[in-house]
Amino acid sequence: MSANPSLDDLDIITAQRYGELGYPHEEWTRLRRESPVHRFQPEGYKPFWAVTKHADIIEVSKQPEVFKSEGRFILFPEMDGAPGQSLEENPPLKMLVNMDPPEHRDYRALISHWFTPRAIRRLEERLADITNEIFDELAGRGEVDFVNEIAVRQPLRMITEMLGIPRDKEGFVLKVTNENFGIEDPEFQREGDTREDRLGFLTEAFTFVTELMEERRRDPREDLTTVFAQATLNGEAPPVFELLSNYFLVMVAGHDTTRNAISGGLLALLENPAELAKLRADPSLSEIGAEEIVRWSTPVNHFSRTATRDYVLRGQNISAGDSVALFYASANRDEEIFEDPFTFRIDRDPNPHLGFGVGEHFCLGAHLARLDLKVFFRVFAERVKSMEICGPVERLHASFVPGAKRIPVRYEIE
Ligand code: HEM
Repeated sequence: MSANPSLDDLDIITAQRYGELGYPHEEWTRLRRESPVHRFQPEGYKPFWAVTKHADIIEVSKQPEVFKSEGRFILFPEMDGAPGQSLEENPPLKMLVNMDPPEHRDYRALISHWFTPRAIRRLEERLADITNEIFDELAGRGEVDFVNEIAVRQPLRMITEMLGIPRDKEGFVLKVTNENFGIEDPEFQREGDTREDRLGFLTEAFTFVTELMEERRRDPREDLTTVFAQATLNGEAPPVFELLSNYFLVMVAGHDTTRNAISGGLLALLENPAELAKLRADPSLSEIGAEEIVRWSTPVNHFSRTATRDYVLRGQNISAGDSVALFYASANRDEEIFEDPFTFRIDRDPNPHLGFGVGEHFCLGAHLARLDLKVFFRVFAERVKSMEICGPVERLHASFVPGAKRIPVRYEIE
């Protein structure tokens, strides 16, 4: 790339770029300054408008009737290139994130009572136990991969317990989750894979979930699987595809995003020792710090919408049918909203980040994610005496939920 490429040539979307270089913050900073709503047409992708300013993402997200989620809700390269094979023309899942009102609200209402602040607050003690168990097991080892042996574990255990998934199936849930979010990562693909091969994990997941729901219909329990199994819409059981898709969404979004926030939070704290010292001095800062960690790491990098009619956004003429990609990670560094946006401050307040989205599709699991993070970093501050990176950090090749794949660490724990 030349020193100052034209805006059209900036790579803000390929999985490879995120895998090799991380989030394109320099590119976004330029876009926010020079062309905050910019039309891109990179090779292998259908065109899209990149929306990089905080205010514009709010404007789009709060008008679901103008910018719908059905269709192209994430930007992927054209899979296989054949008509009808793209994810938006032939979606492998029909879930909250690619549904629109009024249907969207009906499905959300089926499970939202499990995610209210009150319902989530009750989990705090259990989360502290889970987190302490993880650190207990780490004591006496000295070196591990932080991502796979620490970050994945607490949010995975919490969401599988809420769903009522047996402990011995955690590994399976983790495998399908990695295959889902790593769909563009060479580590999770084989050469020559077709669309069906690449989505094979979905068939495995659907079979597993179907059996579990059948068990709960016979023998109901106090868990989310029972809630899904007994759900009704207008007095009838919802269509199986929608039910399984939304279950899958909760099962994978319920921990992968949070694990990336935990990994991102660790990197931020190690790179900013003064902030880590503040947290150690007052571990209760982890509550407010959870917000800064989500702003800083922005685990969900983008979602996309489709315009249902012509619309003018920041002076750009968006036509009906155009894709509009909302880059939350860029909005979370918007100089017009955040003082010193490129400074990580564990006690930043106020912190109006868009890490959980905004409007109709605001993250259903936001309160759970916040509590996971608050408890994790409180226990971390109390128990980890030292931690340093002792090998290469590897990142997932993905531009949807791109996080760290491996962070080798050396540590001392109390
Ligand atoms: C730090 C962790 C997390 C981040 C950064 C995050 C981010 C997001 C974002 C940006 C959206 C908005 C989608 C859109 O606008 O189209 C979203 C939606 C969603 N999230 Fe999260 N999330 C996290 C944790 C969780 C957890 C723990 C759950 C647990 C169930 C969860 C479940 C969902 C669901 C079901 C939706 C769809 C909501 C809808 O479309 O109405 N998320 N999340």
